[in-house]
Amino acid sequence: MLEAKVFVTRRLPIELEELRSLVTVEVWPERQPPPYEILREKVQEIDGLLCLLTDQIDRQLIESGKLKVISQMAVGYDNIDIAAATARQIPVGHTPGVLTDATADFAWALLMAAARRVVEADRFTRAGLWQTWEPDLLLGPNVTGATLGIVGFGRIGQAIARRAKGFEMQILYTSRQRCNPELEQSLGVEFATLEHLLQESDFVTLHTPSTDDTYHLISDRQFELMKRSAILINTARGTIVDPDSLYRALTSGQIAAAAVDVTEPEPIPSDSLLLTLDNLIIAPHIGSASRQTRSKMATMAIANLIAGLRGDRLAYCVNP
Ligand code: DGY
Repeated sequence: MLEAKVFVTRRLPIELEELRSLVTVEVWPERQPPPYEILREKVQEIDGLLCLLTDQIDRQLIESGKLKVISQMAVGYDNIDIAAATARQIPVGHTPGVLTDATADFAWALLMAAARRVVEADRFTRAGLWQTWEPDLLLGPNVTGATLGIVGFGRIGQAIARRAKGFEMQILYTSRQRCNPELEQSLGVEFATLEHLLQESDFVTLHTPSTDDTYHLISDRQFELMKRSAILINTARGTIVDPDSLYRALTSGQIAAAAVDVTEPEPIPSDSLLLTLDNLIIAPHIGSASRQTRSKMATMAIANLIAGLRGDRLAYCVNP
């Protein structure tokens, strides 16, 4: 047993016996995240924090506590002030790798659903509008053989390319760093500037982290470059797309459709005009939500937490 207390900011999809046998564990029991003020109180008395992307772990919170480790159950960590944690020598863990395929699968599901208008078709049928087979009912573009633009070419971007290859797509990618020629060749992808990719692609899918550089990376100017038939997919972070520009692009016919699993802000406000659009699919940030993936993420987050409490190097550490 370690002389340590931890706070877990939501119920996790796995049993916490092992963790409870090692440390004193408190789990926030509500469906909603703990309010910031509660987190401020908790960090006064805990050594380890296991948090989610909905928890705001800022400098003030980090500096006011005595945390030895922060372990996030997500690959993204834009909700955590990493510089502040690093300055206090607090390791921050995350869960890369285990959610790559689940997230790529979901991005692919959104791409297919937006192209072939699956959600609209379901609404149409339930509304009692299906009267006969019609030659021009709910037409969409071909996915097979189309051009796909992948923005951000890390693990998930590359997993998307593997799926696209099976659909015989022309695949363009853009990223801070070009990959080596062997990888490009094996995935069948071509490096492009963002501008060129936007101009050429029938589908554009976003896989960059949320940083100052990617904030509203897709705004009016980028929508203007895209084909009027293009479909945008975002399973990365809502902040990458300017929501007002997205609304303008979808209502003016600047692009044909979009499907997003992430919004800015999250959850999407109930009065958002985006909710009125038929050519937009919106999912509630469930890209990694397969049972197996979520339990792997939780297991990994607990392993990072325990390593940090023991003073060991975290297996998946974000700090430099
Ligand atoms: C992440 O891990 O960053 C996803 O957004 C949620 O799984």
